Amino acid sequence: MRVLLLKYVLLVGLGIAADVPGNWTAVQRDIIIQLDLENTSLEIKTDSTLGSGDIVDIFLYTSQRRDGDYNVPRVAINFTSTPRYYFHNCGSFWTDFPTNLPAEVDKIWRITVDKTAGIRVKIHCNGVEVLNVLLSDSTCRGYRGYWKKYWSRNFKKIYFRSSDTASDYYRSGQPGN
Ligand SMILES: *[C@@H]1O[C@H](CO)[C@@H](O)[C@H](O)[C@H]1NC(C)=O
Ligand SMILES: *[C@@H]1O[C@H](CO)[C@@H](O)[C@H](O)[C@H]1NC(C)=O
Ligand SMILES: *[C@@H]1O[C@H](CO)[C@@H](O)[C@H](O)[C@H]1NC(C)=O
Repeated sequence: MRVLLLKYVLLVGLGIAADVPGNWTAVQRDIIIQLDLENTSLEIKTDSTLGSGDIVDIFLYTSQRRDGDYNVPRVAINFTSTPRYYFHNCGSFWTDFPTNLPAEVDKIWRITVDKTAGIRVKIHCNGVEVLNVLLSDSTCRGYRGYWKKYWSRNFKKIYFRSSDTASDYYRSGQPGN
């Protein structure tokens, strides 16, 4: 995080457009960011080490800005020594990733909400699929019966929460997987 400001100053200094989809943008927290998750994915860069306890912590919003509405889908990743994820309005408990993450400290995460057959949340890390969960009454047992109300929405905006200590840059990623 400490180098983030310097990187940001360099980017601005070079005149690189900071908010164009497809280009990496320095993460700002506590602001609503337009990013259509329907046919694209969200990519995030982190350089947090496992065991640091840093977290990625993102709200997914529809085109309706929901001021003060925290009852929305949330995707969080904790950089515990065994990394964990959390989907609010689904399981709503921390769950270990089922597989080891790529060892590199610099990570590019790709988060995809794939609605081609049911609702599936996929997370890739440095190009490797590390999570692929079909949301259902069993995977979302904390919200049995009503997870779908939240997760079937069309996500058009994202929001990095102030609790997010890991996300350094983001961009809209590739469509599909
Ligand atoms: C990324 O930024 C460069 C430089 O500002 C710009 O020319 C290019 O069109 C941008 N790419 C995308 C995909 O927006
Ligand atoms: C996403 O892709 C599907 C299938 O190609 C298309 O029908 C739909 O309109 C697209 N949605 C958006 C928001 O671009
Ligand atoms: C992330 O994990 C660390 C280490 O176990 C813990 O101290 C911290 O509270 C966790 N963060 C959240 C938001 O649960």
